[in-house]
Amino acid sequence: MNRYSVGYDERTARFLAERTADTHARFLLDYLVSGMDLLDAGCGPGTITKGLAEIVAPGRVLGVDREQSQIALAQRLADGSSAIEFRTDDLCSLTADDESFDVVFVHGVLEHIANPQRAIFEIHRVLKLGGLVGSRHTDLGRFLLEPTPEPLGQFSQLFIELMKRNGGDPHFGRHQLGLFREAGFEILKVSASYDCWTADADSTRRNAHFLAELCGESEFSDQLVEYGLADRRVLGQLKSAFLTWGEMPEAFAAEAWGEIVARKA
Ligand SMILES: C[S@@+](CC[C@H](N)C(=O)[O-])C[C@H]1O[C@@H](n2cnc3c(N)ncnc32)[C@H](O)[C@@H]1O
Repeated sequence: MNRYSVGYDERTARFLAERTADTHARFLLDYLVSGMDLLDAGCGPGTITKGLAEIVAPGRVLGVDREQSQIALAQRLADGSSAIEFRTDDLCSLTADDESFDVVFVHGVLEHIANPQRAIFEIHRVLKLGGLVGSRHTDLGRFLLEPTPEPLGQFSQLFIELMKRNGGDPHFGRHQLGLFREAGFEILKVSASYDCWTADADSTRRNAHFLAELCGESEFSDQLVEYGLADRRVLGQLKSAFLTWGEMPEAFAAEAWGEIVARKA
């Protein structure tokens, strides 16, 4: 199993838990209707899943993730609701039956998997004929960060190198289209969007703290050191530079995503 570059620290889960169906699944929402059975493949802490469940209710919703700590967070959020189930599973060998879902949502996952084609075949297998997949994946080659006093200019490249070392594809957002076509999907819509991390002073500061903490004591920084990609001195400089950056009125950061809606033909 390949390693997950950002790790499962509490701060990373908090960062992911700010995501909602409205902010991160918007490209798919027009295709969802009440009564659809939906799988969220690689659901993380489950906040997007919960919003999707409200839209497709009374459809059955299952969120799966290979990491038990994320499933525990998601289950807490679901709070005993019978319409939504969370359990551990691996996208490369899903336990769900063939043709058991109307729609699969897969978000921010396939860029971390060494064999995304295998996961896409699994998504195809569990979809009913005519079923839909909504796939949104990042492209770190287009991470916007300003200003970048040294060493902040190195941050994106460090992230990219770490993902590659862990078997992922930091440019998956731009590569996914061909893989979905090869798996037999008919492409209905292709789009791209940015998440702005600096929409107001509060979110700028919150995201700056998240980035600073990633560079401090974290699974992310431990892996950078272990692979010899960065040393603790540079990581310490990055940490304090992000804290300073977070107070700058001109601070700007945005993450690029590639988006696809496709049908099992
Ligand atoms: C960046 S998080 C995204 C979580 C959620 N989809 C979101 O966008 O907020 C990536 C998630 O994919 C999960 N993941 C990575 N590889 C997986 C695999 N092979 N099977 C299931 N989950 C996987 C990780 O455990 C992690 O929770």
